[in-house]
Amino acid sequence: MDISYDMFIETEIPKDELIISRTDLKGIITYANETFAKISGYEVDELIGKPHNILRHPDMPKSVFKDLWDTIKTGKSWSGYVKNLRKDRGFYWVYAEISGVYKDGELVEYKSMRSFVPKEKRIEMQNLYDKMRKEAGENVRCVSYIKASLYDNLVKKAKEKNISVEKLLESI
Ligand SMILES: Cc1cc2nc3c(=O)[nH]c(=O)nc-3n(C[C@H](O)[C@H](O)[C@H](O)COP(=O)(O)O)c2cc1C
Repeated sequence: MDISYDMFIETEIPKDELIISRTDLKGIITYANETFAKISGYEVDELIGKPHNILRHPDMPKSVFKDLWDTIKTGKSWSGYVKNLRKDRGFYWVYAEISGVYKDGELVEYKSMRSFVPKEKRIEMQNLYDKMRKEAGENVRCVSYIKASLYDNLVKKAKEKNISVEKLLESI
């Protein structure tokens, strides 16, 4: 049976480097620095023109991004902790500061500077975001070790029914 396993590997931003990006008013990336490319696993050219949500990690509660956009749209700056998804589906935590770029007093773009998060803070934020998603009825993170034979059976049953393993578990 062909079963693929995902490896979720964490990447750390070096303490002396910053991830920098700019977006248009809709969140489409217009500038990315080399550190952004290196840490996210994309090439700079791949990032430009893409919506910033290509980095959205399923562990992030929706309300965090709502707060982010509600804040920056009114011209204020937003800061907070974000878990991001790498191109290879690994992840990295950032402390992000996002604010407006003004030209002749008019809001034309947004800019973001992201930096290293200490390990204890990452654990605290993971727990907080897990709790927030659960309370909001969003997806929950479930890491479980089960016998290989049981897993093979689940995958086989899901294939027979032409549904995902998640859908199969929902029906139990
Ligand atoms: C300047 C700027 C930087 C952003 N940086 C990130 C980021 O690093 N990771 C992320 O998931 N979303 C980031 N966002 C928010 C995304 O635009 C988007 O709202 C978020 O990924 C959630 O996706 P959704 O709005 O499609 O639900 C950023 C937005 C702006 C304006």
